[in-house]
Amino acid sequence: MKKQITISPSLLACDFLHLENEVKSATDAGVGMLHADVMDGVYVPNISFGFDIIKSVVSVSDVPVDAHLMIKRPYDYIDVLKNAGVYSVTVHSDFDSPEVVRETLEKIKASGMKAGLALRPMFGANTLKDCLDICDMILIMTVEPGFGGQSFMQDMLPKIRAVRTLADNTGREISIQVDGGIGEATIGDCAEAGADNFVIGTAFFKATDRAAAARNFKIAAESHR
Ligand code: DX5
Ligand code: ZN
Repeated sequence: MKKQITISPSLLACDFLHLENEVKSATDAGVGMLHADVMDGVYVPNISFGFDIIKSVVSVSDVPVDAHLMIKRPYDYIDVLKNAGVYSVTVHSDFDSPEVVRETLEKIKASGMKAGLALRPMFGANTLKDCLDICDMILIMTVEPGFGGQSFMQDMLPKIRAVRTLADNTGREISIQVDGGIGEATIGDCAEAGADNFVIGTAFFKATDRAAAARNFKIAAESHR
């Protein structure tokens, strides 16, 4: 059975001056998840927001909050994310050695959260071989991580297909998330390739009617599977 389509607005593109309203507007629009991008200025050349902000978001969100950690030391913050009430935590495959990456994913799982592994554009599906058995989600970056509003990288589509096949072969339910430049023009191709969870920053928060946008994204994804 195919996993249901999830639209995950990325808070990076929201109006931070009105964070509570932005969270409510997203959940009222009927989305399935909220995506919180944490950047430390070291793993990526940008700094976003930290864990107190995420805790505040969780406290007013009707849907699960997913933390995408673009940071050098994710291990140190797993307890704090658990206490904040985060649903899932994704770390990047290259923030440290494969051993440390695995240890970090294991700690996320042991804390009772869902564990995700993210691949930057330069890393192929084979990067997953050491960790796929403990992942609940694979995040395929469709831009270089660090900034919202970039253009979708079309050449990531074969990787989505390859990861979908690897994930299906495990016999476990593994979600495939895509992140970067997702919108009406690109969501269908990603769904067709096997993605089921769509992170959407700019195209969601800049939409004049967010509920209609969320509906249209979902319809576009569903009609391409
Ligand atoms: C980029 C972040 C994304 C970003 C997506 O490093 O991981 O989640 O917010 O933004 P858009 O949808 O504008 O490309
Ligand atoms: Zn992200």
